[in-house]
Amino acid sequence: MKKGNVLMVCLGNICRSPLAHGIFEHLSKDYSITVDSAGTANYHTGNTPDSRSIKIAAARGINIANQKARQFIVADFDAFDYIFVMDHENLNNVLKLAKTELDRNKVRLLLESDEVEDPYYGGDQGFEIVFDKIEKACKNIIESWNQ
Ligand code: 4NP
Repeated sequence: MKKGNVLMVCLGNICRSPLAHGIFEHLSKDYSITVDSAGTANYHTGNTPDSRSIKIAAARGINIANQKARQFIVADFDAFDYIFVMDHENLNNVLKLAKTELDRNKVRLLLESDEVEDPYYGGDQGFEIVFDKIEKACKNIIESWNQ
């Protein structure tokens, strides 16, 4: 798939999904792919990403500082072709809002058999782990689309 819309989803849309948004956008810049991100909760709506996410992204050459958090909405099922979530809690929360089988089929864990764990309450090292996991997953997805 070299064109389409991808939505990255976590809980707060300030730590993990902004990284996934920035990384996927960066890796797919030669394709006609639109990337966005959202949180299942509305705690941080309108906020820029967590400074620790901004910092690790910048250290790896990706600017996510201008992103603004928003909550996932039901209309996102129509607006996006793929909805990637970070953990099983995100998966359950998004699937609860699905209306059709088509909606449900768009949703998958970013890492097929692992979670991108919430780094919010930990230290900087957690954000490095999260970055590396997300980058690997995004590379795998894009590679699979190239085949
Ligand atoms: P995220 O991390 O889901 O990766 O954006 C979190 C950010 C904020 C909160 C939880 C997780 N919070 O509880 O405020």
